[in-house]
Amino acid sequence: MPTARSTSFDKYDAYARSVQSPREDARFMRLVYRNVNKSEPTVLREDFCGTFALCCEWVKLDETKRAIGLDIDPEPLEYGASKYLSELTASQQKRVTTKQRDVLVRHRAASDIICALNFSYFCFHERATLLRYFKSCRQSLRPNGLFVVDAFGGPQHGEPSLDRKRLPGLTYFFEQENFDPINNRTRFSIHFKPRDGRTRKRAFSYDWRMWSIPEIRDVMLDAGFKAVDVYWEGTSRDGRGSGRFNRKEKGEPCQVWVAYVVGHV
Ligand SMILES: C[S@@+](CC[C@H](N)C(=O)[O-])C[C@H]1O[C@@H](n2cnc3c(N)ncnc32)[C@H](O)[C@@H]1O
Repeated sequence: MPTARSTSFDKYDAYARSVQSPREDARFMRLVYRNVNKSEPTVLREDFCGTFALCCEWVKLDETKRAIGLDIDPEPLEYGASKYLSELTASQQKRVTTKQRDVLVRHRAASDIICALNFSYFCFHERATLLRYFKSCRQSLRPNGLFVVDAFGGPQHGEPSLDRKRLPGLTYFFEQENFDPINNRTRFSIHFKPRDGRTRKRAFSYDWRMWSIPEIRDVMLDAGFKAVDVYWEGTSRDGRGSGRFNRKEKGEPCQVWVAYVVGHV
């Protein structure tokens, strides 16, 4: 993640409040694993973990849970150690491990679940690289292991756009700056406007390839996953995403969608 431009503005806290739901993510993955395997997962590996808030929520679920967080950038790892890890009990802290590491390098520890959330693997632009990453994840999963990624898309993301969300004391902007339909490459930036401060333009920026669900599914199958499920978001009464995800064979057309894609070992 880019370096903070100002020491007085906590961009990781603003990011967490704007886009993360680590408690819900931890519960969702435990539920999916339970439903698929009729057993309890123990080890979660969070790839592209950033501040590893999800690892910290995972070990809170019960005393058997262990978490491994991998990220290439030391800055969010250090932030997570001081902000989230330090809030855990001694027993919970012992069950979280983080490593500053490229996720493309195979990690030896075997996990029940490996996840790559907030679309982080969109940083891989070539199919060969995505396949290499997915294969390495499959090899690091235990029998009955699950590989969980999220994905988003829809017609809105075929051109530049700006979404805005007002939070207490803060406005969050998610800007799609461009889109190239020849290679599906796109630049997204996150800006923040604190109520009492100047706008932090491009607090985070991403050079992503928009991967479609059929592409992700095919690459997972090519990587050796024996089955791939899609969890599609329900719609609430106001027509927005409900935040509830169910396994589906068919989606619906919408301007913007978010889904989880789950590979089974
Ligand atoms: C979009 S943030 C995601 C943070 C967190 N997973 C979340 O859900 O919000 C992407 C993270 O991926 C990390 N990253 C990018 N390329 C990586 C790589 N090849 N290996 C490990 N981490 C990487 C960045 O340092 C950054 O912290």
